[in-house]
Amino acid sequence: MTQDELKAAVADAAIDEITPHLEKETVLGIGTGSTANLFIDRLGPLRDRFKGAVASSEASAERLKGLGIEVFELNHVGDVPFYIDGADEVNAHLHMIKGGGAALTREKIVAACAKRFICIADGSKYVAQLGQFPLPVEVIPMARSYVARELVKLGAEPVYRQGVVTDNGNHIIDCFNFMIEDPVAMEARINAIVGVVTNGLFAARGADVLLLGKTYGVERKAL
Ligand code: A5P
Repeated sequence: MTQDELKAAVADAAIDEITPHLEKETVLGIGTGSTANLFIDRLGPLRDRFKGAVASSEASAERLKGLGIEVFELNHVGDVPFYIDGADEVNAHLHMIKGGGAALTREKIVAACAKRFICIADGSKYVAQLGQFPLPVEVIPMARSYVARELVKLGAEPVYRQGVVTDNGNHIIDCFNFMIEDPVAMEARINAIVGVVTNGLFAARGADVLLLGKTYGVERKAL
């Protein structure tokens, strides 16, 4: 199976996971990226069975609207029962690195409001230790150089993601060669640097369910 087929398989599995729980008042939290897009496409035919969605990016919001799914502002919604999103890396504790698509801050906000976070990922994203994928950090633009110097002190090799401006008007620094031994501690440590909006470690609030696409089928891991 190709990576795209594995992504499609986990998108199907996520639909199976949430469909029994859909109600007229349900507002779903929706992630960003190629795997999330496949999930969004499968939600279209179900649009009459739930109220709508909150999106973690402008791109996902546009895709949802294009399928006739109403998109709500998060401030107008309470808790969401499910947040469904991909990951750049995920480990056995269902801690993740996210933000390859630069949507990490809104992803983290919507995930924080979710009762259950369902991570959908092809098997290549499953790792023993997080950090092979460069960890994204969203920063206030004027703090970029200062934050980069602080990240060097933590052992990272920070690289400014040139030309990328987030949906929040900020910049992204990617941390290369930065294997992470304690994701919960490192998430908090980086977030404590002045000028950091957030970082792409999703550990304090990781996923609750992982649907992992393997050639022999979708593996389901739940905490
Ligand atoms: C977006 O900012 C990311 O967090 C994505 O969820 C992550 O990069 C996974 O993307 P793919 O599904 O495209 O691999």
